[in-house]
Amino acid sequence: MEMMFRDLVITDADFQRLVTFIHKNYGIDLSKKRQLITSRLSHSLKAKGYPDFKSFLEHLFTSKDPEDLELVLNKLTTNYTYFLREKEHFTFLQNTVLPELEKRHQRDKVLSIWSAGCSSGEEPYTLSIYLKEYFGTQANQWDTRILATDISQQAMAKAKAAVYQPPADMPAEWLRRYFVKNKTGQDSYTVAPVIRNNVIFRTFNLMDPIHFKLKFDVIFCRNVMIYFDQSTRDALIQRFYDAMTPNAYLFISHSESLGQTPLFRMVAPAVYRKSGAPIRS
Ligand SMILES: C[S@@+](CC[C@H](N)C(=O)[O-])C[C@H]1O[C@@H](n2cnc3c(N)ncnc32)[C@H](O)[C@@H]1O
Repeated sequence: MEMMFRDLVITDADFQRLVTFIHKNYGIDLSKKRQLITSRLSHSLKAKGYPDFKSFLEHLFTSKDPEDLELVLNKLTTNYTYFLREKEHFTFLQNTVLPELEKRHQRDKVLSIWSAGCSSGEEPYTLSIYLKEYFGTQANQWDTRILATDISQQAMAKAKAAVYQPPADMPAEWLRRYFVKNKTGQDSYTVAPVIRNNVIFRTFNLMDPIHFKLKFDVIFCRNVMIYFDQSTRDALIQRFYDAMTPNAYLFISHSESLGQTPLFRMVAPAVYRKSGAPIRS
């Protein structure tokens, strides 16, 4: 007989505490996601022996146990992603952005590209494939390493393992050149070293100050800011601005908007360029 699994109880006060904690530390707004919180966490909390959310949260907030923090992040972040997502972006990158950057970096031959909120890796690997396709035989003369970051350890682990079932719209030629078929499963492939080695994965919280070595020519931050409220978004947009080279490109998702900001101007759907001088209030 199948057992009915009931979600654990969360009181209004505990729900608020958890929502405030997540918002303050990770920017994610879960104030309307009570059902999501209980359904995604209940099973794991029960398995760990907690009878309700209260006892778990008391432990989490007093101990700040990294394992529990990780569990909460893994369960409460939405990691949905896929290869070639919003393909027009990659076409724009190939036809407009890369030719321009190739000219601009003719001397140093270093491009700096960041996939911020990369989830399980499909976005940075898609970027890596486009870069390889674009530079072709010249690729080894260029440093085009992509920085790929996310807050979810679980997503990062999947990204680093690089094992996927590539989608049907992945060009057959790319599948042949850039993926290695695994013996274990019919549709299981591992991203080939030539594409993998061009992506550097780091765990990074987008709420933190950005202190990477290079300023970025291109930032992809797609389907991440939708989980943030406007003030968190605005603060991140300012940090992106400060971390970018002049005229750099920022890609967000087609379902998002930067809103009214003097910092960037739209140049194509969901593609922005850094504006001239920084304006701070
Ligand atoms: C829906 S996925 C987007 C993946 C990919 N960019 C795409 O468009 O397909 C959103 C990702 O943002 C990450 N994320 C959410 N809040 C974050 C934060 N504060 N810092 C870093 N990453 C965060 C989540 O862990 C999740 O993997």
